Amino acid sequence: MTNKSYIILGIDTSCDETSAAILKDDRVLSNVIYSQIEIHKKWGGVMPNLARISHEKHIDAVINRAILNVSKVKSLKLKGKSFGLNDIDAVAVTIGPGLAIALGVGIDKAKEIAKKYNKKLIAINHMEGHILSPLLKGERKFQIPKSKNPKNIEELKFPGVGLLISGGHTQIVRVDEIGRYKIIGDTLDDAMGEAFDKVAKMLELGYPGGEIVERFAKEGKPIYKLPIPMLKSHDLNFSFSGLKTASMYFLQKYAGKKDKQFICDFCASFQFAAIDSVRRKLEKHLELYPTNFILCGGGVMNNFSVRKMVRDVANKHQIKAFFPAKKVYNSDNAAMIALAGFYKMKRGEYEKDIEKIDRRPNWEIEESF
Ligand code: KG4
Ligand code: ZN
Repeated sequence: MTNKSYIILGIDTSCDETSAAILKDDRVLSNVIYSQIEIHKKWGGVMPNLARISHEKHIDAVINRAILNVSKVKSLKLKGKSFGLNDIDAVAVTIGPGLAIALGVGIDKAKEIAKKYNKKLIAINHMEGHILSPLLKGERKFQIPKSKNPKNIEELKFPGVGLLISGGHTQIVRVDEIGRYKIIGDTLDDAMGEAFDKVAKMLELGYPGGEIVERFAKEGKPIYKLPIPMLKSHDLNFSFSGLKTASMYFLQKYAGKKDKQFICDFCASFQFAAIDSVRRKLEKHLELYPTNFILCGGGVMNNFSVRKMVRDVANKHQIKAFFPAKKVYNSDNAAMIALAGFYKMKRGEYEKDIEKIDRRPNWEIEESF
């Protein structure tokens, strides 16, 4: 690891957000996200080809905006000089996991910039970005002053554990050091965010469903008994399809009773069952393996009850839980990709042959490049 300072451009087009960010080391100088939710809403899920078209349409504008925003960062002391792609040291781009044709847009753009400006190219695993997202530091409006997260990675006592809960993943990952990971628990079917989305669809509440289900759950009580997923399994894996099917039958049975209070109580019951299954597995992991901290990432971390569960578990086991300092860093963003790129740059892990970089839609975090 070197102590050199780096300015990194991050690019993420893995799913339905076009994002570009610029970091100076682990500090966010700018982070721009163009969300495609409005496009996919009417289909009730992400349409890969529409995602690709939208990424292609917006990627240049998103990158330009990210560059423009850096020129406004006072602490950089640019003294009126504008910031440009010549000023970066490297481009970090998500090559997987994600939607193949969407990933391709970001990869092509990253290659184009690396070649044109003679910059290093760093291939990033999207899930590593989510794990590292609590370590992002802010700049002005990107800063949460009271963040209890570590000031630098030297403060982290390894091994730690990553808890990744998003629309595509539900994973417990052992973090031996930055860059070395082992998947300890994974979902056998649906991811937790996906289950939230499907339940919202069954109730015709809208898309994406996680946030909406949480809103209803806040006004309800978990009075309905839904099965806690994987209650009897001895491993650390997850499964949400049983809970999804049980929810479907339950809702069919109460088809005539869908008043507001019923929906609120049902959402609270579903949310309780889903979160409790994660709590049990997380606790089991902490009992089995020595762990000094939990790094949390993924869109489902937006959920207050999920964060509370993790905090309670961490307190019980007297370890620290770290969350992204800003809501936008829970969901897909390029700042976390640039951060993963920064640590790779420090280890000298950039790509020697740019042409060899290709998308890896099913790339697991524990596989090396
Ligand atoms: O990480 P993310 O932005 O995208 C990837 O899947 O990579 O996660 C999106 C997922 C969606 O399934 C969404 O419904 C869920 O995160 N989500 C939530 C909440 N906010 C977003 N789930 C539960 N409660 C929330 N407040
Ligand atoms: Zn993600």
